[in-house]
Amino acid sequence: MSQQEITELASELRQHHNTPLAEERQGEALTLEQQMNSLNGKFFYIESYGCQMNFNDSEIVASILSKQGYGLSKNYEAADIILLNTCSIRDKAEQRVRNRLKALNLVKKNRPDAVIGILGCMAERLKKQLLEEEQIVDIVVGPDAYRDLPNLLVEADAGQKGVNVLLSREETYGDINPIRLNSNGVTAFISIMRGCDNMCSFCVVPFTRGRERSRNAYSILAEAQNLVDRGFKEVTLLGQNVDSYKWTNPESNEVVNFAALLEMVAQLSPELRIRFSTSHPKDITDEVLHTIAKYDNICNYIHLPVQSGSSRILKKMNRTYDRAWYVERIDAIRRIIPDCAISSDVIAGFCSETEEDHQETLSLMELVKYDMSYMFFYSERPRTLAARRYDDDVPLKVKKRRLNEIIALQNKHALERNQAHVGKTYRVLIEKTSKRSDADLCGRTDQNKMVIFPRENYQIGQYVDVQIASCSSASLKGKVVNS
Ligand code: SAH
Ligand code: SF4
Ligand code: F3S
Repeated sequence: MSQQEITELASELRQHHNTPLAEERQGEALTLEQQMNSLNGKFFYIESYGCQMNFNDSEIVASILSKQGYGLSKNYEAADIILLNTCSIRDKAEQRVRNRLKALNLVKKNRPDAVIGILGCMAERLKKQLLEEEQIVDIVVGPDAYRDLPNLLVEADAGQKGVNVLLSREETYGDINPIRLNSNGVTAFISIMRGCDNMCSFCVVPFTRGRERSRNAYSILAEAQNLVDRGFKEVTLLGQNVDSYKWTNPESNEVVNFAALLEMVAQLSPELRIRFSTSHPKDITDEVLHTIAKYDNICNYIHLPVQSGSSRILKKMNRTYDRAWYVERIDAIRRIIPDCAISSDVIAGFCSETEEDHQETLSLMELVKYDMSYMFFYSERPRTLAARRYDDDVPLKVKKRRLNEIIALQNKHALERNQAHVGKTYRVLIEKTSKRSDADLCGRTDQNKMVIFPRENYQIGQYVDVQIASCSSASLKGKVVNS
């Protein structure tokens, strides 16, 4: 799309603020307290595990149920319906849910009428097997079947257990305005696509989330505009691979790619910060990087998971890039957005990983010096290519030792990166009261660094300039010098 087309589309959207979709959204902008009221006398409780997309899905589920008259409860012991929105990414994630179900045994014993539902990726992976394995579970609902939840709940009330794990090629929940759960009123997630077509050999997501599909760009913009109207100051656009976002307007045949989408969201309001996750090294384009550089309100922060520094392992992981390609993408980021923060995901001990492969991961980390990383040891997932074809042959002890080396190096780099901020002043969007002390507030810089500073008279949702006085590897500390 040309620059002019993008501007036109964004301004058309702003003017069409009263399109039916937008109108409906305005009407839906109820406060959480209003949503907590139940119109049918029943209350649901929902607990989320896993990635940001899964947390956002819970907000979609809350919206679907509240429209049917269900009230939201923050206390599972009092709720008529207890929903766990689950994750399957590693064995540990599933174990956490299994343990949670054990704790819920008592609830079911005391209140046999309470309905217990498993949603999300574990529901999709295990299907009706979950009903057999976990006696207290009444309904099992996969990520593309949430519109069917009200029906399944009615059936469960009549004593009938239910499963809907149908995956869809079209469902994006584009018309549903999520109810912001646990919201600070400042930051919100917007899912721009669902599923994943990448088939990384270690990953269960393509099996639990189905095929990749992109959401209608207008509905994304309408949701972002609605958040702006309600005083939100930051949106994070979510997808497993945001760089492959691609939506074709059926009326005009115009194609909106990720760079164009970013640009349109950025044009909604200069006061709105835009973040996004996750970028895939094989797909992130210079066009996207130039768009980030062009707009002050698109944050200079990219999460670009490398997984491994060894080209041999990357090939086995089916990541479809090698070390040289990844390093070239890092160079492009540094060239186009010089002060961009970069973070990563790293897996230690993938099938056949040797000590040399592991050293290559460490040396790549040395090269990039990530601001932050999420680090894991490999956990074999049923049905994946790696599970079917490769031996999970790195002993657990070795996986853990390598992971610890990776974590130690990452902590060193994070501290170095943060130390370079000391003495400088950064614009911070205030998000919440500090966990450690009520006398402090905290918020993030453009580069996604958490900053803690004395509250004085500053308010959540405000932008302030904070001069940094000290840091740890996890956060920066300072004082407001300008607001
Ligand atoms: N779509 C994102 C990742 C989603 S899953 C991407 O491609 O980057 C989040 C992270 O979990 C992955 O990046 C990977 O580092 C980790 N992960 C996924 N499957 C795993 C497995 N089987 N064992 C250990 N870590 C895994
Ligand atoms: Fe999983 Fe790879 Fe898709 Fe990420 S890109 S969700 S790691 S298959
Ligand atoms: Fe987990 Fe599913 Fe997200 S497996 S990481 S909740 S897509």
